[in-house]
Amino acid sequence: MKTLAETPAATSPAPDPKATALTRARYQRVAPFYDLMEILPERRYIPWRKRLWSMVRGAEILEVGVGTGKNMPHYPEDARVTAVDLTPGMLERAQRKARQLNLNNVELRLGDAQQLDFPGESFDTVVSTFVFCSVPDPVLGFRELKRVLKPGGRILMLEHMRSENPFLGAIMDLLNPLVVRMTGANINRRTLENIRLAGLKLEKAEDLALGGIFKLLVIKKDDING
Ligand SMILES: C[S@@+](CC[C@H](N)C(=O)[O-])C[C@H]1O[C@@H](n2cnc3c(N)ncnc32)[C@H](O)[C@@H]1O
Repeated sequence: MKTLAETPAATSPAPDPKATALTRARYQRVAPFYDLMEILPERRYIPWRKRLWSMVRGAEILEVGVGTGKNMPHYPEDARVTAVDLTPGMLERAQRKARQLNLNNVELRLGDAQQLDFPGESFDTVVSTFVFCSVPDPVLGFRELKRVLKPGGRILMLEHMRSENPFLGAIMDLLNPLVVRMTGANINRRTLENIRLAGLKLEKAEDLALGGIFKLLVIKKDDING
């Protein structure tokens, strides 16, 4: 039987409040330790983040799932960045970081990727790093990113996902229930499939590490169905 986490695409029109509350509670619990837990992997992520943010274009930028603000050192100075997160404990840390970095072109708010509180076509670029492993209904989330993106805009992402190697993929399925309970992140998301199901066009999926488990993604708003 498939678990909720490995189901590639839930397609409910509204977010499931229970699943969303559970994700928020998990990140609220890990928030005080998040930066500590990430010290080692973060050394690898920093050059990826730098590169991703060098690809950002436009004056209005949205970061979804800002977490504790690890992307903030890479924010463009000449754009307005709006950053949202589901979890108050993570957002508080991001607010602290924004003050430390003296960022005055940034607006931080609580928000859910599955139901964004912005009018359609508001942003030139949407950035998200290591978030769609956690968004309870990723297809709903991707549809929201598509809605708030201006025509011609792009979504830039760093993400880990289920291995395309069948053996490794099966191991990830097996371990996922434990990992998601401990950290809030699913390790077996079929993210490329979810992007397609949301009607987005994958422009680029570059393998970064672990045989393609970690990828840099460039996604266009244009509907693949025309
Ligand atoms: C693994 S952390 C990544 C944080 C940050 N982007 C980074 O690169 O370090 C995942 C973040 O996604 C947030 N998140 C999970 N589901 C979300 C949702 N539906 N909407 C907005 N943020 C969400 C969590 O609260 C958490 O801060």
